[in-house]
Amino acid sequence: MSTATATAHPNIALIKYWGKRDEALHLPTTSSLSMTLDIYRTTTAVTVGECESDEVWLGDARAPIAFGDRVSRFLDVVRSRAGDDRRARIHTVNTVPLGAGLASSAAGFAALAVAAAAAYGLDLDRRALTRLARRGSGSAARSIHGGFVQWHRGIGDETAGDESSFAEPVDASGLDPALVVAVVSAAEKPISSGEAMRRTMRTSPFYLPWVRSAEEDLAQMRAAIGVGDLRGVGEIAERNALGMHASMLGARPAVRYFAPGSLRVLDRIVELRAEGVTAYATMDAGPNVKVLCERSDAARVAAALADIAGVGDVVQARPGPAAAVVTG
Ligand code: PMV
Repeated sequence: MSTATATAHPNIALIKYWGKRDEALHLPTTSSLSMTLDIYRTTTAVTVGECESDEVWLGDARAPIAFGDRVSRFLDVVRSRAGDDRRARIHTVNTVPLGAGLASSAAGFAALAVAAAAAYGLDLDRRALTRLARRGSGSAARSIHGGFVQWHRGIGDETAGDESSFAEPVDASGLDPALVVAVVSAAEKPISSGEAMRRTMRTSPFYLPWVRSAEEDLAQMRAAIGVGDLRGVGEIAERNALGMHASMLGARPAVRYFAPGSLRVLDRIVELRAEGVTAYATMDAGPNVKVLCERSDAARVAAALADIAGVGDVVQARPGPAAAVVTG
């Protein structure tokens, strides 16, 4: 029997990943760029060789069957690389509401990839870990690293070279940002990100224009990060996210994650900017709004959002750590 435990944190994309060009390998249509957070940690333990079939636990309860199957398929990738077909018990403790567009799958599959690789004795470098985590959930590739991270679209998976689809850290030492999360709803989303991506790609006339603009957004964002220009980073992040949601609204039938509370938060952010605060919004596959601002403005932004009808918790985050094996 062997056990390994790992932790990981969610990441929020400032340049979004929306659409897979290869469903099985989770190869993205576009490159993306994110910030790993220091909140909502996930801790996952993998114990190999004690049970006949995979057992997946979320806290004290067995995971729903569909989720357990997804974890098992991911472990099959690890097992085939390790040449070890023993089953495993997975025990995950999340501090983030699941399935609400708060990136629970990114932290979850990053922690699982690191713990499973260690428990099955795979000796993988960080780049290989990002490629492995990607197989669980695309955005999980980015949570392998801390701070700002770029996930390269790449040209394939089968090679370990620069051309494969992996994630790597981006030097953002010129920025001192915070991300304020306004929780509009922590309920599970009505449509999964995977299904929503497929529908957008297949049916939205606005998807390809968004893909084209995302390339330019990424180049401009890299330049803004390089010179420590948080306002530029925020402007690009907000337009990239709203463009992604516009492409979803154009799907048939439309995919809409905005709730009335989300729109009120977006209005308040426009007002904050008029008051001179550098604050920009981004949204994922859910109604929650994440606001990028200067670390020194985070408390002011959080207070402004907490008063809005329809907003529940408001949580302040900063750049967080890489996924890691927990020792001792
Ligand atoms: O990795 P998934 O399937 O949960 O996709 C996440 C997609 C977004 O959160 C909407 C954007 C992103 O880049 O994280």
